[in-house]
Amino acid sequence: MNSEQKTLLTGIKPTGTPHVGNFLGAIKPAIQMVHDYEKSFLFIADYHALNTVQDGTRLHDLTLSIAATWLACGLDPSKTVLYRQSAVPEVFELETILNAVTPKGWMNKAHAYKAALDVNAAEGRDRDEGVNMGVYTYPILMAADILLFSADIIPVGKDQKQHVEIARDIALRFNHTFNTEIFTLPESFIQEEVESVPGVDGRKMSKSYGNVIPLFASNEEWKKAINRIPTDSSSVEEPKDLSNCVIFDIFKSLAPAEQTEALRARLEAGGIGWGEVKAQLLEVLETQFGQYRNRYDELMQNPSEIEGILAEGAEKARTVAREKLDEARKAIGAA
Ligand code: TRP
Repeated sequence: MNSEQKTLLTGIKPTGTPHVGNFLGAIKPAIQMVHDYEKSFLFIADYHALNTVQDGTRLHDLTLSIAATWLACGLDPSKTVLYRQSAVPEVFELETILNAVTPKGWMNKAHAYKAALDVNAAEGRDRDEGVNMGVYTYPILMAADILLFSADIIPVGKDQKQHVEIARDIALRFNHTFNTEIFTLPESFIQEEVESVPGVDGRKMSKSYGNVIPLFASNEEWKKAINRIPTDSSSVEEPKDLSNCVIFDIFKSLAPAEQTEALRARLEAGGIGWGEVKAQLLEVLETQFGQYRNRYDELMQNPSEIEGILAEGAEKARTVAREKLDEARKAIGAA
């Protein structure tokens, strides 16, 4: 099978707002990949987020914000089926079916669950403290997400590779148990981070380091992030040392090569101060991400437009899901 005949599917957990690093390392390559497939599904995994986001208004807002993010960054809803996981109840019926063929021991070995227990152990707490059943059965819900759509290729970050392997094992076990081949065996596709940008402190840009440049920020907020980048105390006239220069490294990863080389020449010659470099970096952010930001703001001011797109997606998704669920129900003797 070539890629056009395969089905691609991935889910995004709505737990936070994206930064420039997320855009370059994950969102942009994923959108390109999604558009390469004739059949693709992209959904907001709000019931996965529910394990940690337990505030209705916040979950609702985060869901719309993630949908708006992907749409603003160029995801074309006429080429991919975009929906909310919670709008497809077939997923949860299939999850119940899959519970019955999933060995409890597989869940005990899942990294995310094990990590939660390890944190409790390290801090001397009861091993199960703060661990809800949603965290425990997380990989089964993910298997239902995937198997219901006969997905072949699952683009995910490294941390989700094991979950896709569990989905594959569950599919195999179901097919074997009920002597059928209804479930396609999925494969993960781990995106290499071909493009990345350092955070404002020079380390990898990450929410947990608190060093991010937000993707959808006002110019004021962008300025604030830029002002946190450390620079040396050399005078305007002095030539600048670019060997370990965070602001230049950030500039280089965001600006077109020509512009970067022009700036490099001026910095190495001397006669340009850090203030001007910061102003240029703000311009680069504006040029690279300004139009996405404007479209994002527009969508967030028109939530009904986002809801309309999600509703259309849910309808298409449910048509596919219903068929596979009926096959599963038939196989197990529920119909
Ligand atoms: N667990 C994934 C994450 O944390 C999100 C997700 C949920 C997902 N269901 C999925 C990804 C199905 C791929 C396929 O990022």
